Amino acid sequence: MSPLHVTRTLPEDATGAALRADVRHGLTVTPKTLPPKWFYDALGSELFERITDLPEYYPTRAEREILVARSGEIAAASRARTLVELGSGSSEKTRYLIDALTSLEAYVPVDVSESALTQAGQALIAERPGLDVHALIADFTAPLELPRTPGPRLVAFLGGTIGNLLPAERAKFLALVRSMLAPGDGLLLGTDLVKDERVLVRAYDDAAGVTAAFNKNVLAVVNRELGADFEPEAFDHVAVWDREQEWIEMRLRSRTAQTVKVPALDLAVDFAAGEEMRTEVSAKFRRDGIAAELAATGLELTHWWTDAEDRFALSLSVVR
Ligand SMILES: C[S@@+](CC[C@H](N)C(=O)[O-])C[C@H]1O[C@@H](n2cnc3c(N)ncnc32)[C@H](O)[C@@H]1O
Repeated sequence: MSPLHVTRTLPEDATGAALRADVRHGLTVTPKTLPPKWFYDALGSELFERITDLPEYYPTRAEREILVARSGEIAAASRARTLVELGSGSSEKTRYLIDALTSLEAYVPVDVSESALTQAGQALIAERPGLDVHALIADFTAPLELPRTPGPRLVAFLGGTIGNLLPAERAKFLALVRSMLAPGDGLLLGTDLVKDERVLVRAYDDAAGVTAAFNKNVLAVVNRELGADFEPEAFDHVAVWDREQEWIEMRLRSRTAQTVKVPALDLAVDFAAGEEMRTEVSAKFRRDGIAAELAATGLELTHWWTDAEDRFALSLSVVR
């Protein structure tokens, strides 16, 4: 069995410095906002895995359904020898792809969550002893230094995570992905699709309150890392559908007027009663829209697969 290679491309304090910059900015702008990547400490990654099993959270099941049915076609179209997965988390659904890619030599999972990466990486090398696994602790919104592995390369971005990027961030991100691809490489992209508002809101506001706990976990991260005194129970979890932007917004609504101190930033932040802070957007897509965004970065959408209920799509794109 080959060992798990783990590379930290983030300098030791990069996470801390980035968190401080994001929190300083996010708590001093109006409306307040915190970026979703800070949900994913060990507890946040675990809570996300619980979300994927919830009856209301259809995206994981829908995407798995597509992967089960279409991994053979994806493998035949890509013939990848290296699979790079951005925001890989547990790599749970990726196993269908790994099994179908008969020429696969290397798997490069990339995630900010060290705990999710090492757990998934260790499980994979035990299950697939012939596979070279190079786990990369890195932020996929910045240029990545990928290990030297054989092409063709397939870059997978699953789970609808692309929807967490705002449109301008998405364009920048797609340009970065394009720069990782040579002729013959491909991008496999999971996108959640626009659908009935009630189904969407339920998926982000489940009856058991797991998504609420996940949302509030960002406050625990800021408390632990920056010594802040957020009281998670002083905030309510909110999920709303923005019809214009076609995205779900997760927010935390302050129950009362309160002041939160963030000693590491020398900051005291006032929240009005009922004030809402945005913690995540989750954009939903239509085929024409995402094809146009891909085309604008020089990628051509060649395949489009959906689940039986047209809830979620996987697309394959190549360099034009
Ligand atoms: C919505 S989850 C999806 C996980 C998995 N791909 C799936 O389909 O179930 C998003 C994943 O991306 C990771 N992530 C979020 N922002 C990131 C960033 N900027 N750079 C690297 N990883 C990030 C999180 O840690 C998490 O594992």
